[in-house]
Amino acid sequence: MSTIQLRTPVPGPRSQALMKRRDAAVVRAAYHATPVFVAKAEGAVIEDVDGNRMIDFAGGIGCLNTGHRAPAVVDAVRRQVDRFLHTSFNVLPYESYIAICEKLNAIAPGKGPKKTLLVSTGAEATENAVKIARAYTRRPAIIAFEDAFHGRTYMAMAMTSKTHPYKAGFEPFPAEVYRIPYAYCYRCSYSLKYPSCEMFCAKHIEDTFKRMVSAESVAAVIVEPILGEGGFVTPPPEFFPTLTEICRRHGILVIADEVQTGFARTGAMFSCERLGLDPDLVAMAKSMTGGLPMGAITGRADIMDVSAPGQLGGTFGGNPLACEAALAVLETIEKQNLCARANVLGDRFRKRAAKWQAKWELIGDVRGLGAMQALELVRSKATREPADEETKQVSQYCYEHGLVLITAGSYGNVIRLLMPLVVTDAQMDEAMDVLESGLAAVAEKKPALSVQSV
Ligand SMILES: Cc1ncc(COP(=O)(O)O)c(C=O)c1O
Repeated sequence: MSTIQLRTPVPGPRSQALMKRRDAAVVRAAYHATPVFVAKAEGAVIEDVDGNRMIDFAGGIGCLNTGHRAPAVVDAVRRQVDRFLHTSFNVLPYESYIAICEKLNAIAPGKGPKKTLLVSTGAEATENAVKIARAYTRRPAIIAFEDAFHGRTYMAMAMTSKTHPYKAGFEPFPAEVYRIPYAYCYRCSYSLKYPSCEMFCAKHIEDTFKRMVSAESVAAVIVEPILGEGGFVTPPPEFFPTLTEICRRHGILVIADEVQTGFARTGAMFSCERLGLDPDLVAMAKSMTGGLPMGAITGRADIMDVSAPGQLGGTFGGNPLACEAALAVLETIEKQNLCARANVLGDRFRKRAAKWQAKWELIGDVRGLGAMQALELVRSKATREPADEETKQVSQYCYEHGLVLITAGSYGNVIRLLMPLVVTDAQMDEAMDVLESGLAAVAEKKPALSVQSV
């Protein structure tokens, strides 16, 4: 029996009624990718308020590697609900905060003894990584990448690349953020080809030190090991070793933003492990808790401890429910061997995607690592013109046929997969059948689809 069960056209009447209330009460800027309101969810399946069952390939934007309502997470949170909800670690500390920090210190990428700070979101994690890097190095500048996404608060937004919708109108941004090209080989900023480029983009940072900001003014380079919002761009294996060698030579810290890539998504607990990235600080959030808001920064103990008591933290940072959830997530990833599962799912997708790419002009690039996979859609393989409207049409087709997925990319032309890693083989195949029909409908222009706003 298929998992997807649609009782009404999507969005159904109840979702439509809620959308009217939403329009009247909620700010326009609080974006949502689908017009479907959720009633409940389990594993990789959601049920909407009209009783439609859909497969979830967005996972709350990559927060649900362990699935909706992972049993161990639900149990851990329930047990904590019966004890206490909040005291603020700043006032009355509790053991679970220490326990998750101990675990993160043991498993986070980077060498040597580590320490951890807990916060509430991914943006707070990247912001605090910058505070820590500046405090340690006593240098002001931060280098970020084109197509990066580090959050929506002011410093995080300054480090984020994409202008619409994230930055436009919110200027001015905090100073001392410099931007350089990422290893986006499909759209190389220098029009070079890998591998004959010999990692020009990574080496070119030396040029940045001459022409933009002196190396001795740079506190840190912040980088997503695989671009998330930027379109799941996966750099070649030489990129990070080359970049980190240059940074080390100049006393510049490397911050890995593992907010979207972390916790088994890429076939390892952290994508740094797969990409040869040895960071000084790591920012984490999203799938760390299986659905509760929490972020973390883990890094070299000498760097993390440079700030004095009270200089870092916040009222809700390391909330007890989220700490218990995070401990249960780590246990679940290990017990269910979700890193291996991510690779199996990724391979399953790649096999089908290779056929789509061979068949349709629309599929320009297929890329990713583990279960962090994406399709970049183009109008022509020769010109690589971004197919943004077509990407919206595919995603609309998908949710109308019971598959929730989200797009990405600075040009809005990437379809990304962030399904829970607990998705079954049958659900995975069913979801890919829907995606395939959606791509076929758009690639072969049948039937004509009109998109309002997705
Ligand atoms: C790589 C990366 N960093 C930071 C963030 C910001 O996280 P949050 O939305 O929890 O603030 C995100 C969110 O998508 C992200 O993908």
